[in-house]
Amino acid sequence: MATTPLAGMTKVDRWQISRQKAFKAVPDEGRTITYLGKKFHVYPDTFWPFLDSQPLVRNFRIKPGESVLDVGTGSGVIAVFACYQQAARVLALDLNPAAIRSASHNARAHGFEAVMEVRRSDLFENVGDEQFDVITANLPFRDKPAHDIVARSQWDTGFQTNTRFFQDVGKYLKPGGRIYFAHSNFGAVDEVRRLAKAAGFRIRLIASSAADAPEARQFYAFLIKPAVAT
Ligand SMILES: C[S@@+](CC[C@H](N)C(=O)[O-])C[C@H]1O[C@@H](n2cnc3c(N)ncnc32)[C@H](O)[C@@H]1O
Repeated sequence: MATTPLAGMTKVDRWQISRQKAFKAVPDEGRTITYLGKKFHVYPDTFWPFLDSQPLVRNFRIKPGESVLDVGTGSGVIAVFACYQQAARVLALDLNPAAIRSASHNARAHGFEAVMEVRRSDLFENVGDEQFDVITANLPFRDKPAHDIVARSQWDTGFQTNTRFFQDVGKYLKPGGRIYFAHSNFGAVDEVRRLAKAAGFRIRLIASSAADAPEARQFYAFLIKPAVAT
């Protein structure tokens, strides 16, 4: 029987692949995306600000003066919104050099270059020994082999990035600190809950988006804290 390259793919696979193509097709000078009433610029190969982070961005709370570490910053959208909540320091990390370029642009464009530092890092590898009041993360949702750096914005081969995140994140959290974590109903939600608990955290859903009919995709924001107060 004849097969096509799309054989065996799910609707979500096809939708995500079309988004990866769109990220790659951005012109060199970039393009501007409006997200929750603010403008963000993305250069080629950067994950665009999208609905997936909105439950987190609408519901996370930063007290003025707190420090924030944003892991997998992409365009820097979550980090920039932390700055709008008057964080005193925001460190935004990403593996992808294109994301570093986009997030640096957005830190400057929103006037937060003195507050928001953007640094290339595979998870926490370049953080040093700094600790933060709040850690935010919108990591790739799905346990699926990622063939390139753009695919790594949506797919996590063997769920290794998410697994390492939960194993290591506690070291970068100040006593009494908290984590805001984005996820989705088409991602490995049960595995996220299991990883968080195994690492000594309690995890609570604080917000979710309405399902986008007819696809029924939903996005979540979790609040994660050490199970035993630190
Ligand atoms: C779903 S996108 C989210 C981007 C942005 N935070 C947002 O909410 O729009 C995931 C981001 O995580 C980054 N990422 C994936 N694996 C990573 C790793 N091991 N270390 C750092 N960043 C990573 C990707 O490059 C991508 O920018």
